[in-house]
Amino acid sequence: MFRFPELLRRCAIVVCGLLLASAITAANSAKPTAYYGYGEPATPQQIAGWDIDIRSDGKGLPPGSGSVQDGEIIYEEQCALCHGSFGEGEGRYPSLAGGEGSLQDARPHKTVGSYWNYTSTLWDYIHRAMPFTQPESLSDDEVYAVTAYVLYLNDLVDGDFVLSQETLTQVQLPNEPNFVPDPRPDVHNKRCMRECKDPNTISIKFEAALHVPTPTKVELPSENTAGESVYRASCAVCHDSGIGGAPVLGDASDWLARIGKDVGTLYSNAINGFQGDRGVMPARGGFTQLSDAEVTAAVDYLVEESR
Ligand code: HEC
Ligand code: HEC
Repeated sequence: MFRFPELLRRCAIVVCGLLLASAITAANSAKPTAYYGYGEPATPQQIAGWDIDIRSDGKGLPPGSGSVQDGEIIYEEQCALCHGSFGEGEGRYPSLAGGEGSLQDARPHKTVGSYWNYTSTLWDYIHRAMPFTQPESLSDDEVYAVTAYVLYLNDLVDGDFVLSQETLTQVQLPNEPNFVPDPRPDVHNKRCMRECKDPNTISIKFEAALHVPTPTKVELPSENTAGESVYRASCAVCHDSGIGGAPVLGDASDWLARIGKDVGTLYSNAINGFQGDRGVMPARGGFTQLSDAEVTAAVDYLVEESR
């Protein structure tokens, strides 16, 4: 039972809340509204943040430039850790060079030099997605420089080359001519409304696809919520799916031998980085701003969930 003043205080909070809610509603209805009255028009800056695609003819490229020499420094600091100093790829991270002439092989070695179509795709990809743990952290000039360096690793430009908004489309990737428009006509599917085929006869594969078993694992709330949120933000990118050879969260066989180690070793490998048989675990997952306590909490979470 609440004592009287406590009850009064609680009521006051509720009344206040109601007043606030109606004030907000009033303020909202005073604004000129779109159909449902939600959201607001995107500003030009917000649109610019999304509008970053580069076309094969170079449309969309920002002004700027960068040399192979500058690119080498950025590459060694921010890319070689995963992609290797010569673009050969560390562990299971993708290689960025080599593989020329392998596309007809049973296991083609697809790289920027052997497989990719346009230099603009390379610029766009690095700009939006790399370095893997800090996408969109490079300036435009840095993207020009490191793109130039990846071209250099593939022997496509000389060591004194400068890549710029003007020169980019002049660099043709060797496999571009092998990309052709698909000449097959579009398929138009009509929905069947009567006398349709018995779905059981259509295809066994299709049938099987319809009967994907529902996952039954019950998600218990984790005690270590700080560790879990660090994990989500900074580790899941690799440890959820096993990217680069990362042991997968919840996969006991992946973790068995690791959990057998002294936990201090796991902490220090996660904090300082670690090269194992499977690949490279970057120091703090590449998120240098994380504190030791945050990293160890995330390790505890990984270990708890993976026993
Ligand atoms: C922490 C590891 C890591 C770092 C550091 C990193 N990358 Fe990557 N990179 C990856 C992974 C993982 C992929 C594959 C991503 C995918 O397929 O979704 C990738 C893919 C690529 C690809 C496409 C390869 C292909 O053929 O599909 C390019 C190009 C690339 N990275 C360039 C760079 C550059 C340039 C840098 C430095 C500015 C960099 N990466 C830094 C992990 C990394
Ligand atoms: C860019 C990918 C990547 C990210 C991000 C990443 N890891 Fe890893 N991690 C790996 C890989 C790859 C390995 C396996 C290395 C090996 O054994 O060859 C690994 C291994 C580990 C191990 C086992 C170490 C051992 O001694 O066996 C721990 C613990 C770990 N990571 C913790 C973390 C934590 C905590 C985070 C987030 C703060 C994180 N990782 C983020 C790629 C990543």
